[in-house]
Amino acid sequence: MIQLGVIGYGYWGPNIVRNLHNLDGCQVAAVCDRSPAALTRVRQAYPDVAVTTEASELLTSPKIDAIAVVTPVWTHFDLAKAALENGKHVFVEKPFTSTTQQAEELIELGIRNNLRIMVDHTFLFSGAVRKIRQLVDEGILGGLYYYDSTRVNLGLFQHDVSVIWDLAPHDLSIMDFLIQEKPEAVIATGESHLNGVTDVAFMTIYFPGNTIAHVNVNWLSPVKVRTTLLGGRKKMLVWNDLEPDEKIKVYDKGAQVSNMDGRHELLVSYRSGDMWAPRVEQAEALKVELQYFLECVTKGDTPHNDGVAGARVVKILEAADQSLQARGRAIEL
Ligand SMILES: NC(=O)c1ccc[n+]([C@@H]2O[C@H](COP(=O)([O-])OP(=O)(O)OC[C@H]3O[C@@H](n4cnc5c(N)ncnc54)[C@H](O)[C@@H]3O)[C@@H](O)[C@H]2O)c1
Repeated sequence: MIQLGVIGYGYWGPNIVRNLHNLDGCQVAAVCDRSPAALTRVRQAYPDVAVTTEASELLTSPKIDAIAVVTPVWTHFDLAKAALENGKHVFVEKPFTSTTQQAEELIELGIRNNLRIMVDHTFLFSGAVRKIRQLVDEGILGGLYYYDSTRVNLGLFQHDVSVIWDLAPHDLSIMDFLIQEKPEAVIATGESHLNGVTDVAFMTIYFPGNTIAHVNVNWLSPVKVRTTLLGGRKKMLVWNDLEPDEKIKVYDKGAQVSNMDGRHELLVSYRSGDMWAPRVEQAEALKVELQYFLECVTKGDTPHNDGVAGARVVKILEAADQSLQARGRAIEL
């Protein structure tokens, strides 16, 4: 029975506690939040779970095997570091840390103390992303031309991180999982309109060869959109995460140059075949992910969404900030 301590019970923390509470093989030993109001909510939902406003109580408790860090980004490093120093495995929210240097320090500490680090890249455990990965791995889409994601809605405005650090980690982790190549450069442009924090941003990520990714994140959109296009040499795909059914549609569409003899005679032939919607597992992604965390802790396995994967995402976020400040200058990774 793995004993867990959860730090942070704001917006996302309750989802972590609910899933852990319902999973076999673990027990939520205690929940910590600085806010007494948050702890009242914990007591109401889970009368048997201990609560505290002091993170150090969880971090040093000999009863606790693993800590989930579900607090704002700028607190991840200190809390995760203290957990690892006290011999506890960690499940850390996305984005892993505020800098790559912090990420590297935690990775090193995890290795030294033989402890697991998992970064909550929730979407990697969704039925949709797992299905797309399968389509990529089986070569159904063919070599990827592009990944183009739109992740926009009105709010939730954050005061401590930009829309890039809030929403883009989802796309960057999905991209990392699907493309499996080391990105070469990042370009980011964006603006802030309300509270001095970037609220609209456009990122372009270059991969080796001619694979390119584009991510549009925006807190000032009148409608919520969660749509990703993946263009492959053989097939193209649209993933609309807001669709209750048929989230993924695969199109047998494409274009081919059939004659390159001189610019004026360029002949492009288009293919427009069938569309199909593969079946997508409906299980809650966070539940699948937390189950995997427990398995990794029990077996001593390194998760695929470990600290190293978290650091890859943070590196792109840092480069995006640099590029944004220079109004879209390309930053080599
Ligand atoms: N994986 C996902 O899909 C997903 C979704 C939402 C948020 N998140 C991530 O979860 C984290 C938390 O986001 P949120 O929206 O829940 O934020 P939030 O502000 O709603 O909640 C954070 C909570 O942490 C508490 N807290 C802060 N510092 C603390 C400390 N040192 N000790 C104890 N408690 C402390 C605050 O009182 C607050 O209740 C962020 O890293 C965010 O990026 C992930």
